[in-house]
Amino acid sequence: MRLSVTTAIAALALLSFAPAPQAQSPSSQVALTPPMGWNSWNYFAAKVDDKGVRAAADQIVSTGMKDAGYIYVNIDDTWEAERDASGVLHTNSKFPDMKALADYVHSKGLKLGIYSGPGNKTCAGYAASLGHEEQDAKMYAEWGIDYLKYDLCSFRQDVMAAQAPNDKAAQMKLMIAAYEKMGKALKATGRPIVYSLCQYGWDSVWEWAPALGGNLWRTTGDISPNWNSMYTILSQQEGLQSYAGPGHWNDPDMLEVGNGRLSLAENRTHFSMWAMLAAPLLAGNDLPNMKPEIKAILTNKEVIAIDQDKLGKQASRVYSEGEVDLWMRHLAGGAAAVAVLNAGSERYSTHPFHLDLTKLGLHGTQKGKDLWAGKDVTLTQGMPIELASHDILLVKIDSPK
Ligand code: GLA
Repeated sequence: MRLSVTTAIAALALLSFAPAPQAQSPSSQVALTPPMGWNSWNYFAAKVDDKGVRAAADQIVSTGMKDAGYIYVNIDDTWEAERDASGVLHTNSKFPDMKALADYVHSKGLKLGIYSGPGNKTCAGYAASLGHEEQDAKMYAEWGIDYLKYDLCSFRQDVMAAQAPNDKAAQMKLMIAAYEKMGKALKATGRPIVYSLCQYGWDSVWEWAPALGGNLWRTTGDISPNWNSMYTILSQQEGLQSYAGPGHWNDPDMLEVGNGRLSLAENRTHFSMWAMLAAPLLAGNDLPNMKPEIKAILTNKEVIAIDQDKLGKQASRVYSEGEVDLWMRHLAGGAAAVAVLNAGSERYSTHPFHLDLTKLGLHGTQKGKDLWAGKDVTLTQGMPIELASHDILLVKIDSPK
């Protein structure tokens, strides 16, 4: 289900809440760099099944994605059947044996993720975890689950609206308590399980999620495979950079690389910018039918290394000129990455764009590497840069001056 959250965000943004104190995440032994893997939702949605997940795991290995760092194979919504008299949630016929599937995925050296939510129902209307949090967490651990995406969905009606109608502050407390409950339940299993909060970036989730064990949290509504969706989400990440770090990441949603109507330049820009943002890199495409040029984007190791940089410092947009955006990220060892992005609808929208290194805090000629051309590049003050529409220049500078 694609959620429309704009109105609710606007309403909640008007309220001022005291943020929970920042604390080290109890699960910080996982996700020390942004999680990488694949998730079923963006391409397969309700069509995901055991066979498709096994095929995705096989492809992650055979395409070299595993070697490039993709480890989590995440089942999203629609695996669930009903609970039995003892409250045990069963899988539906698409997933005959979740433990066997976990064993298979693990046998490939990969990890398995699953999906639920704090309400009665998931976004697609399947059974979720309300009132069964400990029981579900225990079952996940017994299956060998390594990652949980916990999606708000019906909790808004089931609990927030039902228990605290018209009281946004009380509703927020209920929501935080629900996420905390599952965080504790996961921790109590003793199994390292990445905890991914999905509540669309409401209520400054970045301020309170780490303290309750959240390793990542969605910062926006759902992404779609088109430029406007991707670029709007990208623009909404500005200002959140201080909340990202080892063990706790802003999540601008899963990758749409290879999906929908994104051009090659747009796919490159999407992937580059998620790397600049230290975002989780969860591919969401049809892996068995992936085109070589999409594989080349998803497995560009130097771009992935930007994402996975151990400092975990998310990029900021340093300046924009016309339709060109300049983002910069500081990397371990004093290195830096600079992205020049043409958000305009034509090549000439970058004219007359001249790079201003001083605005980036850089002085004089900079020697770097263009990570898409795979070539050395020299950046000079005032140099003209011409980019195709929606394309990007991504440069790593080892010794910025
Ligand atoms: C919500 C989430 C999506 C996906 C669907 C599944 O819309 O934001 O990422 O998990 O639910 O129903």
